[in-house]
Amino acid sequence: MAQLAVNVDHVATLRQARGINLPDPVTAAAIVELAGADGVVVHLREDRRHIQDRDVRILRQTVKTKLILEMAATTEMIGIAKEIKPDLVTLVPEKRQELTTEGGLDLHCNEETVAEAINSIHKQGTPVSLFVNPDPDQIELARKIAADCVEIHTGTFCDAIDATGRSNAFSRIAQSAKLAHKLGLEINAGHGLGYHTIKSFKGLSEINEFSIGHSIIARAVMVGLARAVREMVELIKEL
Ligand code: PXP
Repeated sequence: MAQLAVNVDHVATLRQARGINLPDPVTAAAIVELAGADGVVVHLREDRRHIQDRDVRILRQTVKTKLILEMAATTEMIGIAKEIKPDLVTLVPEKRQELTTEGGLDLHCNEETVAEAINSIHKQGTPVSLFVNPDPDQIELARKIAADCVEIHTGTFCDAIDATGRSNAFSRIAQSAKLAHKLGLEINAGHGLGYHTIKSFKGLSEINEFSIGHSIIARAVMVGLARAVREMVELIKEL
């Protein structure tokens, strides 16, 4: 059965909007775990717009399932990963102006930088996942540079405005997942997934874990965080 890792960045976004210490993503992470999530994801961005260094340090001590640290492949972040030792590092591209991560890593252009980052993080005994678009070339490059896992970007599929676009985007995800599986990579998937789009993944058993943030936190505002997580856990159980 696929697992669910919940991204709690948006809880920190709300806190930062007021510049006080509420709501706390550390509390959110505990609720998310109690409600049945298999992991907690945080993205420590270079600009610290939501998650702060303090959050990651405390989460390392409090998370009971697994802590997944999303980060850019920079010297600063690699140093933090070394100190924190998350259960998984997911390397993502990062642009200051973007609202959220916009696309997968371009491993053609950044092969050397990413390979060096993987090597350095591996030396600490931490496995590395690469956030990539559903593109066979990117999957093969991920394998070549010794990634342990790929997180396949599901954003184009989730944002498709018609059935053809959705179907084409899903085929690319499915083909990429099958290729990654053949190459011996672990496979996660995420970005833009919600309570309806998740249902399309029924039968795509190559995917080990879904990384979901926005839709769960948005639902949590209306129905409560524990219920929002439980409802997603139930949908993933049915896949
Ligand atoms: N995976 C990655 C690599 C991301 O950057 C994000 C967004 O922070 C997510 C998954 C979660 O996306 P969403 O918030 O749209 O569920």
